[in-house]
Amino acid sequence: MSNKGYARPPIAIDGPAVSGKSSVGRSLASHIGYRFLDTGLMYRAATWNAIKNGVNVNDPIAVAEACERMDFAVSDGEIGDNQIVVNGENITNHLHAPVVDDAVSSVASVGRVREIMVAEQRRLANGGAIVMVGRDIGTVVIPEAPLKIYLTATVRTRANRRHRDFIAEGINIEFEDILRSMEQRDLIDSSRENSPLRPADDARIVDTDELTFGEVVNHLVELAKDIF
Ligand code: DC
Repeated sequence: MSNKGYARPPIAIDGPAVSGKSSVGRSLASHIGYRFLDTGLMYRAATWNAIKNGVNVNDPIAVAEACERMDFAVSDGEIGDNQIVVNGENITNHLHAPVVDDAVSSVASVGRVREIMVAEQRRLANGGAIVMVGRDIGTVVIPEAPLKIYLTATVRTRANRRHRDFIAEGINIEFEDILRSMEQRDLIDSSRENSPLRPADDARIVDTDELTFGEVVNHLVELAKDIF
């Protein structure tokens, strides 16, 4: 595989919600000494900012304007995670709140929001040595990345994983409700006009249904060796 001119080329990981791409991507990055960027957090930040400013998240023009006014910065946390600061406030802990979950697909479908986020993602990818995780990283953000991974699992497996997480956190929620909401998000993410979720033509598809977390990470570490 060619490294397209980067000494330590960026790695793209895409996949549907709860395919494990954030935790797997973070672990891969720490194994190979790369930075990690979870781009979903950036769309979540735009969503949180819109909600905080009383913007109707179903109004694309208002959402785009709020995003243009938002002063945001992404940095590396101490444990290989990402921290997001919006207008001077660290909002990272708010980004997985249910209100954000419910509105983020709609905000992420606004073209102007995507332009702003993709420009920042490309700037961050420019230095190489980064594992970038999202929905359109291999298709739109860094199609030149020599290693593009598409991590996937059936909707039922992913809903099961999310259900287990909720139970572990003491949150009582019906499996069927999670399954329905997951199906809905998959549909919105993969059928939207702007940068729909799909594997790049040259992506390596990794189906995680039958694999443990450690097996997935080991597999990706092996794949990464080919690009150094
Ligand atoms: O990965 P996540 O669940 O944190 O992503 C949140 C939302 O942002 C989800 O609806 C998909 C969207 N997203 C996107 O459109 N493009 C990306 N590169 C990353 C996330």
